[in-house]
This record gives sequence, C-alpha cells and structure tokens, in this order.
Amino acid sequence: MKVKTPEGIRDYKTVWMRDSKVYLIDQMALPHTLKIFESDKFWKTTAAIKDMLVRGAPAIGATAAFGMSQAADEYSCKDLKGFFKHMALAEELMKSTRPTAYDLFYAVDYVHEKIKKSPSVEEARRIAYKESQTYAKTSIETCRKIGLAGEKLIKNGCNILTHCNAGALGCVDYGTAIAPITFAHRKGKKIHVFVDETRPRLQGAKLTAWELNQEDIPYSIIADNAAGYFMMKGEVDLVIVGADRIARNGDVFNKIGTYEKAVLAKENSIPFYVAAPSTTFDQKMKKGDLKIIEERPEDEVLFIDGVSIAPKGSKARNPSFDMTPARYITGVITEKGIKLYKK
Ligand code: MRU
Repeated sequence: MKVKTPEGIRDYKTVWMRDSKVYLIDQMALPHTLKIFESDKFWKTTAAIKDMLVRGAPAIGATAAFGMSQAADEYSCKDLKGFFKHMALAEELMKSTRPTAYDLFYAVDYVHEKIKKSPSVEEARRIAYKESQTYAKTSIETCRKIGLAGEKLIKNGCNILTHCNAGALGCVDYGTAIAPITFAHRKGKKIHVFVDETRPRLQGAKLTAWELNQEDIPYSIIADNAAGYFMMKGEVDLVIVGADRIARNGDVFNKIGTYEKAVLAKENSIPFYVAAPSTTFDQKMKKGDLKIIEERPEDEVLFIDGVSIAPKGSKARNPSFDMTPARYITGVITEKGIKLYKK
C-alpha cells in the first residue's frame, strides 16, 4: 500500500516476517502515528491479534501463519513427537485469539498440513517459514485479483459506501472491499466513498479514512446511523463490504452493523456486494450460525480512546460481528471473479 511519509511515498505491507521476527503496522496507533510493532515471540504475535494491533480477516490469517512459524522456531529439542505436541498447543492458542475470522483457522491449518509429514524438527521449521511466506504472498495476489474483478462494478461518478475496514490494513496489501475502489481511482474514474465510522472501535473513521487519504481518494466519514439517510436521498450507488466468514449458503459474517446496511440497501434498491478471498468460505458451515460471533469487552462501547462516554457503572454489550443473510446480498467478489447470488 502507498503510504505518505516525510521522506516521500513508501510501499508498506500490513504484516511481514523476516528471520524469526514478525513486523506489523500497529493499527492502534493509526490514524495519527505510523508505528511498526515487532514481535520476536509466538505469544507476542497471538497477543497482537487478540488486542487488535492487527485485525481484518486476511491480515489475521497471514499473521497467524507467521506466528506458527515462530512457534516452530521456539521448539529447541530434536524430538519430533514432542515438536508436534508443542505445535498442537500453539495451534490451539492461535485459534483462540479471534473466533470469527475464518482466515485465522484456514492459515493455521494450512501451515499444519505443510509440516505434518516433516522427517525432522529442522525440516519442519524450514517448511513452516517458507510456507508462511507463501501464504502471505498468495494473499496479496488474491486481493489484487479481487480489486481487478470488482473495479468493473464501479462506474465513473460512482458513490460507494463501505463499512469497517476491508482495505490493505485488513489484509496483507490492497484490501478486499477497498481494492476495487483503489483500482477504479487509479484508472482515473471519478469516485467518492462514504465511510461508515464503525463504532465501537472506529475502524472506518480511523483506518479506512487513513487509507483513502494515502491514495487521495475522495471520501466522507459518516456516523453509522446516517447510511440510511444517504441511501434514501439517492446519494449511494453501490455498497461494498468485506467478510470475516461466509457460510456455504452465502450468509456473510462481517463487522457489526453490516446486516443493517444490507437491509437498507435492499430497501433502497442499491446493489450490495461482499468482497473476500475464497479462504473466507467455511465449507463446514451450512448456513450462518450466530454461535461463532465474538463478544468483545464492554469498555470498547463505554469508552472512546480512553475517555468515558457513559454514566459510571453502565453495562454494555459488544458483539463484534453480525450475520447478513444471503437474500440481502447481490453478489460476492473473489479472486475468481464476480458471482451473483441467485434470487
Ligand atoms: O474486528 P475487525 O476489525 O477484525 O473486523 C474486520 C472486519 O469486519 C472487516 O470488514 C473484515 O475483516 C473484512 S476483511 C478486510
């Protein structure tokens, strides 16, 4: 992704690994500070996912793959049986960081599959490192293809609404929902983006706005509850969001608030697309099952950037995702192209 720095425009990835260190853009420090977090230990990488220094399904997946390579490096004996026990525990810990994003599970299982037949600990470590790099590279290419496919949906003069951050910061690069927008802009199409602020953690206002700013793409941040108003006024032509998990029947899990945007889009006859890599599809889930939705700490609702916004002692509920039934979705944009949902 393009990043404006005092030294000029630089290219950044959201997460990368060199030797046994994982580096990531600290998303808690954005939009005001570009800070790189370095993790030299498996447990620090799991904590970075849990505490959301890195977030967004594909970015979580790549970070998890790198974390599994670190776990392999941290086993200091030569005993292969002991190594696989150690890795099984690491897998369990990694999978417990964020329960909704399917890419996390996909990435951990991917590394597991690649190392499971290794003849020695040394060889398993080598494969884990190489394959985690391949995983991240493939993820970048997948998002690039999503961008190329989705760009065709965006006409000159288009006003697009997006929710949360499904941009380069939520992936390794390019993004999912934001990739088509970036490609349309780079092609010279005149576009404008409505950015839902996305309470409680404000990934829209903080992260999506920051990314669009780096690319000089015109945007307006709107309060989450303003989307319906702009749709009714005819100011929104298209909605594109990302996804954390997609069930076999097409039901989509994404950031809390996605469901109501989809219902409003249908009510106002606005196309509603979901952009996601194929790795987001959970083939084991027949239809959207609310059990996998993560509930995060209530302080994320009761405070904004450490400032209390509610009476002391207030209770809050904080589901991090919701499920949008397939009937509200026009189609899905993957690296394989655009697939329209049957109506
Ligand atoms: O809780 P988050 O910030 O990890 O949630 C992210 C989202 O819901 C994104 O829209 C989704 O992961 C799409 S992937 C870039």
